Amino acid sequence: MCGIYAGVTNHSITTHLIDGLNALSYRGYDSAGIALISKQGLERRRAKGKLDNLTGLLKQTPLEGKVGIAHTRWATHGKPECRNAHPHMTLEVAVAHNGIIENYAELRKELEACGFGFESETDSETIPLLITCYLHKGMTQCEAIQNTLARLEGSFAIVALFDNCPDQLFAARQGSPLVIGHSDAGFYLSSDENALIDKSDAICHMQDGDLARITHNRLIITDFEGNIRKRVMTPSYAISEEQGKQGYRHYMLKEIYQQPAVIQQTLDHYLQEDGTLHPDLKSLPMESLCRLSIVACGTSSYAGVVAKYWMEEIAGLPVDIDIASEYRYRNTPYPPQQMALFISQSGETADTLAALRHASKGGQQTLSLVNVTNSSMASESDRMLPLLAGQEIGVASTKAFTAQLATLLLLTLVTARSNRQITQLQLQQHLNTLNTVPRLMDDLLNQTDTIRNTAQQLYRSEHATYLGRGIAYPLALEGALKLKEISYIHAQAYPAGELKHGPIALIDERMPVIIIAPPGPLFSKTLSNLREVHARGGNIILLSNQAGIDQAADFTDTAIVMPEMDALIQPLLYTLPLQLLAYYVALYKGTDIDQPRNLAKSVTVE
Ligand code: G6P
Repeated sequence: MCGIYAGVTNHSITTHLIDGLNALSYRGYDSAGIALISKQGLERRRAKGKLDNLTGLLKQTPLEGKVGIAHTRWATHGKPECRNAHPHMTLEVAVAHNGIIENYAELRKELEACGFGFESETDSETIPLLITCYLHKGMTQCEAIQNTLARLEGSFAIVALFDNCPDQLFAARQGSPLVIGHSDAGFYLSSDENALIDKSDAICHMQDGDLARITHNRLIITDFEGNIRKRVMTPSYAISEEQGKQGYRHYMLKEIYQQPAVIQQTLDHYLQEDGTLHPDLKSLPMESLCRLSIVACGTSSYAGVVAKYWMEEIAGLPVDIDIASEYRYRNTPYPPQQMALFISQSGETADTLAALRHASKGGQQTLSLVNVTNSSMASESDRMLPLLAGQEIGVASTKAFTAQLATLLLLTLVTARSNRQITQLQLQQHLNTLNTVPRLMDDLLNQTDTIRNTAQQLYRSEHATYLGRGIAYPLALEGALKLKEISYIHAQAYPAGELKHGPIALIDERMPVIIIAPPGPLFSKTLSNLREVHARGGNIILLSNQAGIDQAADFTDTAIVMPEMDALIQPLLYTLPLQLLAYYVALYKGTDIDQPRNLAKSVTVE
């Protein structure tokens, strides 16, 4: 999603701005631009598409200066075209913006009536035009910004650069993240702390309602009316070793292979050396709950669906699972003994964050599971359990998903114990089972031949169907999502029992059907569905253990043999071949695996 990078320094800044945009590129974007104060004054360069296009342009027409702003844009209002790319500017001011200005149509009308022409179709362009309008009325830069901020509705992070204020940057935050980093060379700003790692010794997360005025050796933060707000710079602890593919062809592949270590870190964090559970888990008021309401988007929501099966079966706690964009606009009753649980890798997904605020306003106790622990969701929920996935760069989430599963399984076990659904001995046995996951994952990741061969058969398909029953159903959802995200093959997922109520009409010899059928009480039911697919000529790819594969041998085209394991941990292990299958299909198709078209890592707009 859109990213901001800016700097006010005592050295030439162009390459630093490009480095910053590169560090933001994992979030997904479709155009980019920079503006800075050169000897000629305020200048900018913008280009549609990948950053190479912008750097190519800068080679042809270089820009040099010490103060500048930069932006990667993910189109919302207006197509991905150069004229819609940021920074937007007038002769007086250039602005880069993240978020959405909800009253832009009204502001645009007003500005057009005052004689201002718009170059772009964006909501963002209203900001520099409004600032310029106030400058023309005789206001100072600071007054013009303050008056503009007072007019904006919606969410924003803004950086602004003025032509006749060449050594200063202005930055404001309302609802969209913005972080300031400091070093001897001056100040850098970004919407993503990770982009500041190698440029800053100390950082400060701007808060909603903050307006910063920055020179290379001075930072003043006020509210939007100009009253001083005290903010402290803290040492930057963000870890840079996550950067780099470390020998893997793509970040996604690296992150798939990091999963054994991620699960180990999760277990090391939540299971203490003396065998007891971490106080953050144990102290949750799970025994007092009558219902858990889980809310999330995308892959995180599928982790929530897995948790519903676990919680209801193992802990006896009823669970609702909701997509955040639906939940936030529904009038859900909030019983007092219900807890709302929000799952998010980024902690910034706009719909999930809004759903969290909706639930908090309704008096619900809130718990969030987030990977980015300094995110808005982490700070706004009553309680937070960190996910120990480390920075995830691939747009298609992999290691964050299994980290969510492991954490949700621990939460289930804690709940089950406090609800007296399991004994202390059973808890211990389950924890021992969970401890086998990293080794089993390692073994699985070392045998990928069948998956590569299957991908080679699959990559020319136009469609795919994923089926699963019970807890394998959300795995089918996640498998199908991974395939469509990175290979652009249309994929649908269904509960296997629902097949005959519609999707079976699509089955013929051109339809690959991936059936996830771990051993257990539902295996024979899924086998019946598999036979229904076979009878209609579907091309069956079956994931099961050896006994399951043997039973279905006469009806199966391709078998992916899974190791023997306790049913408790099946979701963690059966996810891996689905991720790898999507990865290799995309690799054979030659798509942009780490930054698939139209997608963003962190969706900070509605
Ligand atoms: C985007 C990402 C997905 C992610 C979803 C939810 O769509 O591309 O990978 O699952 O957002 O993100 P969150 O950060 O809230 O887990």
